[in-house]
Amino acid sequence: MKILMVCLGNICRSPLAHGIMETLAKKQGLDWEVDSAGTGNWHVGEPPDRRSIRTARAHGIDISGQVCRLFRVSDFDTYDHIFVMDKNNLSDMLAMTRNKEDEQKVSLLLGEKIVPDPYYDDTLFEPVFNMIEQGCKEIIKDLS
Ligand code: 4NP
Repeated sequence: MKILMVCLGNICRSPLAHGIMETLAKKQGLDWEVDSAGTGNWHVGEPPDRRSIRTARAHGIDISGQVCRLFRVSDFDTYDHIFVMDKNNLSDMLAMTRNKEDEQKVSLLLGEKIVPDPYYDDTLFEPVFNMIEQGCKEIIKDLS
């Protein structure tokens, strides 16, 4: 199974989702390949936001080696499922789909609910971690 996590900047939410999903899948003995990307290019080549690194580390997950990259249309060919954080990510991604098959790969990580953007609010990182962790657990239950 190949999973791609997508948010706007690929420095706050999707790196957390990437690290959390990778860790949970490994714990379950699942041979899943996980990556993350952003729809915006401001931080390409950078490591995750230090607040995401710190929050993940507090939960025993090291995401400091990740490198921000832009989503590319060929990712639709590479990945089985693409999970996005909020409605803006969803519409940005749907606008890049080429066909029904691409479209069916894209969904909100939390199903109906959104993962809020914590970039301008330091207090959101911990709740965002917990929301993403819960979402990843549900996804593993559904797909494994
Ligand atoms: P993310 O948060 O989408 O969770 O990575 C953001 C990070 C950076 C920016 C926006 C959102 N930015 O505008 O630079």
